[in-house]
Amino acid sequence: MTDKHILVIGTGSVGKRHARNLHELGCSISCVDPRNDRLTEAIDQEGMKLLGSYSSLQEALMHSSYDGAVVASPPVYHVQQSVECLRKNIPVLLEKPVAPNLQDAELLEAEVKDSDAQLLLGYTWRWWPSLLRIKEMLDRGVVGKLLHVTYVMSAHLADWHPWERYQDFFMSNQEQGGGALLDESHWIDQMLWVLGGGPLEVMGRVEKISSLQISSDDNVDILATYSNNIRVSLHLDLFGRPHEKSIKFVGEEGTIVWKVDEILVGKSMDDEWEKESFSSDRNDMFMSVAQEFLAIVNGDTLPSCTIHDGVQVLRIIEAVRRSSATGATVKLRPM
Ligand SMILES: NC(=O)c1ccc[n+]([C@@H]2O[C@H](COP(=O)([O-])OP(=O)(O)OC[C@H]3O[C@@H](n4cnc5c(N)ncnc54)[C@H](O)[C@@H]3O)[C@@H](O)[C@H]2O)c1
Repeated sequence: MTDKHILVIGTGSVGKRHARNLHELGCSISCVDPRNDRLTEAIDQEGMKLLGSYSSLQEALMHSSYDGAVVASPPVYHVQQSVECLRKNIPVLLEKPVAPNLQDAELLEAEVKDSDAQLLLGYTWRWWPSLLRIKEMLDRGVVGKLLHVTYVMSAHLADWHPWERYQDFFMSNQEQGGGALLDESHWIDQMLWVLGGGPLEVMGRVEKISSLQISSDDNVDILATYSNNIRVSLHLDLFGRPHEKSIKFVGEEGTIVWKVDEILVGKSMDDEWEKESFSSDRNDMFMSVAQEFLAIVNGDTLPSCTIHDGVQVLRIIEAVRRSSATGATVKLRPM
């Protein structure tokens, strides 16, 4: 248990979750959201007592001091709000993506370097038990040398937040940092994390092809080429039903398939698979992130997912955008 005071900035879906988890871990919580209904929802969570609730970060920083801050607002505010906290020496747990563009992400990276406070980046799928297991299996070379990887994330936007019109959700709005490429960049982070290093070049298309009423992109296809002959295909969309999250790793000695709660390994030509099932709750990974953040706040550990990792994801995103705009393959500097 801890007696830390944590400021949660943005009390929408994930902000309320972080507030709940950190409260359960013994923290006192204050919240910021320009929407009064969202602050009320944060207060109304079972067993929750807020120390303070504010409509702006400036107001929150004026009224109290904090041991840590969680930035869970739409991506367009991430850099500015993280900078304001770091300049007051407040450690930050920043939700992904770092920013809507590479330039802003690099500004934050420079701030973090100059700050005594740490920043933990919330590409939370790194804490997902079945994905941790995948990383361990690949590190062990379970299917030999990898040759091809396929990532799919397909989920209709109208199903994400059933309590609101999808048109009102920041995801629909390009200027707020919405869209499949930025939001589903979990898979780009995964690719960089599990394969190590980065691709030599990428080709990609970033488009709006469905009839969803949004200004952001809803369809992304990326082909990334690694120097050691690994090819990676990523498909991200905001219109698929039923929803799908899957990864397929094809190696020289077989195939690993990840399907959220199960991992399949096949090594023969027939449809024969060894299966491992996982029963973890989605909140478990957010709880693990909260625990790591508190260890950082206590000075016991350093962030395992860093601002630099987030900048690398944005380098890929910018390269994919360039490829989509020009139709050309874009080469990348070594990561
Ligand atoms: N790690 C994960 O798995 C995961 C899951 C969901 C969301 N996220 C990320 O968390 C962030 C928020 O997503 P969400 O689904 O909770 O969105 P949301 O729309 O439910 O919540 C965002 C909240 O921020 C508030 N807000 C708007 N402007 C603000 C400002 N200037 N200052 C403070 N708050 C402001 C909104 O009123 C809203 O309540 C996004 O970056 C998203 O990508 C990460």
